[in-house]
Amino acid sequence: MAELEVQSDAAVLIDGSRIAAVGPYADMRRATGDVRRGVEVVEVEGVLFPGFVDCHTHAVFGAPRLDDLERRALGDDYRTIAAAGGGILQSAQDARDRSEAELVELARARLGALLRHGSTTIEVKSGYGLDLETELKQLRVIRALAGAQPATLVPTFLGAHAIPLEYRERRAEYVRLVCEEMIPAVARERLASACDVFCEPGVFTVAEARAVLSAARRHGLAVKLHADELAGSGGAELAVELEAVSADHLVGVSEAGIRALGASATVAVLLPATMMFLGGRRQAPARRLLDAGAALALATDFNPGSSPTVSLPFVMVLGMAQLGLRYSEVVLAATVNAAAALGLAAERGQIAPGFAADLVLCAVADWREVAYWVGANLVTAVWTAGSACLPSTAPVSLGRNVKA
Ligand code: NIG
Ligand code: FE
Repeated sequence: MAELEVQSDAAVLIDGSRIAAVGPYADMRRATGDVRRGVEVVEVEGVLFPGFVDCHTHAVFGAPRLDDLERRALGDDYRTIAAAGGGILQSAQDARDRSEAELVELARARLGALLRHGSTTIEVKSGYGLDLETELKQLRVIRALAGAQPATLVPTFLGAHAIPLEYRERRAEYVRLVCEEMIPAVARERLASACDVFCEPGVFTVAEARAVLSAARRHGLAVKLHADELAGSGGAELAVELEAVSADHLVGVSEAGIRALGASATVAVLLPATMMFLGGRRQAPARRLLDAGAALALATDFNPGSSPTVSLPFVMVLGMAQLGLRYSEVVLAATVNAAAALGLAAERGQIAPGFAADLVLCAVADWREVAYWVGANLVTAVWTAGSACLPSTAPVSLGRNVKA
């Protein structure tokens, strides 16, 4: 991951929605000489990256959870807030109370903001429903938006995100509901390509996660986990055992978990903005994971509770400053490896022939600046599937029309 290829005075030839060739500008002009009349030339200045791949978001939600942040600022922790009815359960009640149309409009604005920060492929999870109807509603929101805005969306079912209040005293029944009703319904309607579980002490145990993900596999879904986010409980080991496409978070991963990931094809997805926003001082052991042989990806974890950021470049900065990664490593983690975490390594995350023509132009002189300027949006143009698509740069309200 320490090497990436940087070309100067280069050109990219796009044919339809795919990249046909990339190379020195002069060579490309020569190569396209005969067909020049049919070739539209767009001159750009800056650094052109492969479209960023945000491989972990919870982008379908209602109101921001403004109070959670202040409660944490004054000393409550994530789990105390959740136990008091804040946290994920508050967002679940909120999503249950909103119409599908309303969630579509909210998600549309937020996906537009992710796109303006360069994310052209975005994984989006359900998980704020926690009942059959609302989980399906969230996934239908993702489906409705999949062809109705420029980014490619990859939907993930996360019914096992929290035990809903009404099942607090009968958690086994909720796990059964997820396995026997929700997963079959999601698979039947082809609403998700993967299934995720929040496997964490106090949330879902390894045994419960194994049950849910095994059911998902039987229904043809890929599997992934929120593994060892705050504390270790064997989530990474379970991810490897189940051949998960990714194990995400990993702040509390054990030595055995690091070794297991290092010897596997499961991508370790790190989400440093989450730990920063939760106010902790800990981060995932990125270098130890790399040294063990793991493939690392970075993502925003965009959600209203623990990571309300739409900026993957900001996460790349945190990858450097908080995780101890190199510039080349954070760029690969947000492109090539993030695509691999979604099973899309053969078609996204690289500027190479045959890959999707998803490109991001940044107003920088040196490619490393993308992971240096904290909090500035340097993206000046975005193309998806070969078409220019940067939405208006006018600020949108991310909490637009949202009553808390
Ligand atoms: O990835 N870990 C669980 N899910 C999210 C938080 C979601 C929320 O707080 O609403 C996460 O951090
Ligand atoms: Fe998450």
